[in-house]
Amino acid sequence: MKRRVAILISGRGSNMVALIEASKEEAFPAEIVVVISNRADAGGLEKAKSSGIATLTIESKPFGADRAAFEAVLQSALDEHRVDLICLGGFMRLLTAAFVQRWYGRMLNIHPSLLPSFPGLEPQAQALRAGVKISGATVHFVIPETDAGPILMQGAVAVRVDDTPETLGARILEIEHRIYPDALRLVASGQVRLEGDICKTTGSAGFDDTLISPASA
Ligand code: GAR
Repeated sequence: MKRRVAILISGRGSNMVALIEASKEEAFPAEIVVVISNRADAGGLEKAKSSGIATLTIESKPFGADRAAFEAVLQSALDEHRVDLICLGGFMRLLTAAFVQRWYGRMLNIHPSLLPSFPGLEPQAQALRAGVKISGATVHFVIPETDAGPILMQGAVAVRVDDTPETLGARILEIEHRIYPDALRLVASGQVRLEGDICKTTGSAGFDDTLISPASA
């Protein structure tokens, strides 16, 4: 039985598209049953509709600081669609500890840095300011702290001397689109287990080569 997945978005939804595309493969162990946005103007909504996926907008703004009330509506939508797993894809609304704990081990997020470095806003600019030579993207299980939690998968890119947050972000985004579907595949097929703060994977395809940056001449 395929695991039933909801994707939560707030914007353009390019990671959402990558997950939807991957899930079209017959052998993929998860199906995207609903895309939920907390903003009516999220560009990803149209993209999901054109793929034939059910969409829902639950505007968070009218709820103001009452996060629990917003999440009560969200939870009933998730129940209605019998959702097993949640993937956050650029979902820019903080969730309460109670909601996060309810979904612990069943809710994933992607972030454009090699966590635990550079959580929060503008991680690509943070990486450039710190002068790191390698950056990347992380898929992790969600815990109450923002952009933290057991790390499921990471992908790395070399930082170039002339990178701007935009050029670095574009290369990281390509990595995001590769690792998010792979990470969901591992979770949905039961190849992942949590041991405290550590996520362990069994039966993955292996490891890529070492990435050293800058490469010596
Ligand atoms: C992605 O780069 C994702 O990693 C980031 O928002 C972007 C959403 O793009 N998420 C975070 O920064 C979470 N803290 P998308 O809507 O095209 O997938």
